[in-house]
Amino acid sequence: MPQDIYDKVMMLAKRRGFIYPSFEIYGGVAGFYDYGPLGSQLKNNVENLWRRFYLLKDNCIEINTPTITIYDVLEASGHVEEFTDLTVDCKKCKRSYKVEDIIDEDISVEQAVKKDEIKCPTCGKKLSDAHPVNLMFSTTIGIGEGRKAFLRPETAQGIFTNFHLLYRHNREKLPFGVIQVGKGYRNEISPRQGTLRQREFAMAEAEIFFDPNDKTHPNFNSIKEKELYLFDNDKEFKLTVQKAVDKKVINNQALAYYMYLTQDFLLTAGVDPKKFRFRKHASDELAHYATECWDVELFSERFGWIECVGIADRSAYDLSSHIDSSSTDMYAQRKFDEPKIINTKKIAAKMHVLGPLFKDKAGKVKDLLEKMDVKDATKISITLDGKTVDVPNKCYEIVETKEKLTGEKFVPHVIEPSCGIDRVLYFLLEHNYSDAKKKGEEYRILKLTSQMAPIKAGVFPLINDKKLVDIAKKIDNNLRNAGIATYYDDGGTIGRRYARMDEIGTPFCITVDHDTLKDNTVTVRERDTTKQERKDQDLLVEFLKDKTFF
Ligand code: GLY
Repeated sequence: MPQDIYDKVMMLAKRRGFIYPSFEIYGGVAGFYDYGPLGSQLKNNVENLWRRFYLLKDNCIEINTPTITIYDVLEASGHVEEFTDLTVDCKKCKRSYKVEDIIDEDISVEQAVKKDEIKCPTCGKKLSDAHPVNLMFSTTIGIGEGRKAFLRPETAQGIFTNFHLLYRHNREKLPFGVIQVGKGYRNEISPRQGTLRQREFAMAEAEIFFDPNDKTHPNFNSIKEKELYLFDNDKEFKLTVQKAVDKKVINNQALAYYMYLTQDFLLTAGVDPKKFRFRKHASDELAHYATECWDVELFSERFGWIECVGIADRSAYDLSSHIDSSSTDMYAQRKFDEPKIINTKKIAAKMHVLGPLFKDKAGKVKDLLEKMDVKDATKISITLDGKTVDVPNKCYEIVETKEKLTGEKFVPHVIEPSCGIDRVLYFLLEHNYSDAKKKGEEYRILKLTSQMAPIKAGVFPLINDKKLVDIAKKIDNNLRNAGIATYYDDGGTIGRRYARMDEIGTPFCITVDHDTLKDNTVTVRERDTTKQERKDQDLLVEFLKDKTFF
């Protein structure tokens, strides 16, 4: 069978130490992958570039919270109830399928269920009884009955549950963003897209908190003329960020700003712009917490358009839920331009009546009464020394007062770019892979950007001459000590050594030859042009830092 690009990329990924199927010696399990030595470096580079955009450029703050999350949090967030996939079971094949994965492309899940048009992809039998299945991995904390918990389905909840502390950390100013980079888990029903649908995956999420009255972004002006690559209602089109907001294609500035930041991150990382688009979620496809969502979809030759980043407006959904469920004050404060004088009604205790009735407890009763809401004043009962006691109407009155308010509290809104790091990593491999025959042999090149490449420079002595080897090893050591990842290689012809570096995306190769002994220069060969230049070896650190650091 001819190999498609997915096979070619995954074979290279395995052979050269980017991605290995997990637990392979025991037969492997769908949805789990390991990163090898080069894959781990590439993943670090992708995550650190993402951090550069969010932590530095956008001035967010970063936190780290447990991957095991207690039941209460995920019940409040709606994940216990709503984080499900509609599933059908084939009794004959003894397999379950996610409905979305097995229906025709031109029909929605809702239509397929309604029209009873779901067939087993293995045996062809008609399948009914579509039912929701929760995707979270459950666990218990402690032994025995323990406390119910889940492996987190998103890093976001760790940020929401700390909002009050983070708001204070940010000196109670909005907007501000908080990021978290780490593992998320989804017990996918039957993952069929290889490394693109993992059950344990790396996420990079930002939760940016806004005043709902002001969903503008302080840096919007700097990007408003940039173009976004959009797809909606079956049409691809480009719009400047400003126009997309003005025409209400995107509902607010903040969401549009983070869409552009995400596009900039992905194109800087080396995604092919021709295989990039934002697709708007239809209303029946929105996650339970979202009011609007745009997915970045990247094109894969085997799987078509695949979601890699979701940028959602989560409005006040999560913070409101946690305020209700935990009774914690997670409000933000908004100051009024001018103080407002408002008329309020309050309960005022009549001490001359309370005194004889409640004696030494009268002061306590007064405090309790005056803390109550006026709407509860028709019939008041209080708890006194553990007993419920009725307070007669004659003990209090309703008085009108004027109050000066300098501000008010509110629940902030959240914009969330949520990036699937593993998918981005795969697409960097697929979009930058090419092969051709060279002298009758397969020649593969990964054109990773210099910033993303796991190894920045191969360092070679031209031949195995001790003098050249010693210099090459010294250069290699100096570069690594300066923070530049290198690979020293003195095996085989120089052509083979170039080929080994091209195949893993190394942008530069440095060769020490006999001229180095005379004039201290080395050749620097560039992967994409194959051009070679002589450079003084003392300038290599500066040259490579300039080309490869970000
Ligand atoms: N936090 C977004 C998601 O779980 O997809």
